[in-house]
Amino acid sequence: MELKEAIVNRRTVRKFNDYQVTDQELRELVTSAGWAPSWSNTQSWMFIVLRDRELIAEVTDTYSENNPARNCSVQASAVIIACARSKLAGFRNGVQTTKYAHWYLFDLGLAVQNLCLQAHELGIASVIVGSLDHDRCRKILDIPEEYEVVVTVPLGRAAAAPPQPPPRKELTSFVFLNRFNNPFF
Ligand SMILES: Cc1cc2nc3c(=O)[nH]c(=O)nc-3n(C[C@H](O)[C@H](O)[C@H](O)COP(=O)(O)O)c2cc1C
Repeated sequence: MELKEAIVNRRTVRKFNDYQVTDQELRELVTSAGWAPSWSNTQSWMFIVLRDRELIAEVTDTYSENNPARNCSVQASAVIIACARSKLAGFRNGVQTTKYAHWYLFDLGLAVQNLCLQAHELGIASVIVGSLDHDRCRKILDIPEEYEVVVTVPLGRAAAAPPQPPPRKELTSFVFLNRFNNPFF
């Protein structure tokens, strides 16, 4: 698959059929995630693969009440919990070295995008879920406090043709030449 095709056609999918994502597929997804670049190669990410139906239901229950991903999550054959160890990326010997203390969010975002693109190539659909009670989710899964739960990623095969992509902003509104607001295009 062409990279551009994957980038443009990967979609958030919130309705899965009953296909069971395999362990081998999951291995490929987290392998691609692990190839993401990260601050000083800290690779502070950690992924928990949820297969247990009760745990999937418990974790889905931490989602915001009207979260549109609730149904597909509770039915998903696998949900990946994307976590990161805090205070590594952007820190040296425990001391923050730049303005931002949360580079792990940036690094994990790159890894999760790799994961979703890899899934797309394998014909597996995904939805990234960030609107949840992160601490409740962390406690359900016995994750120690030095790690943060950031997003979950329910996975499956799309039950229907992919939805129309939500529109993207015009390049002219977010790409500038040399100085702020100076048009590039
Ligand atoms: C950090 C992050 C958090 C998100 N949280 C949710 C969520 O809680 N529930 C949901 O249904 N979709 C969630 N999404 C999916 C976005 O709504 C979706 O990516 C966006 O509308 C663009 O659609 P596309 O992925 O098909 O291009 C999230 C996406 C990201 C990147």
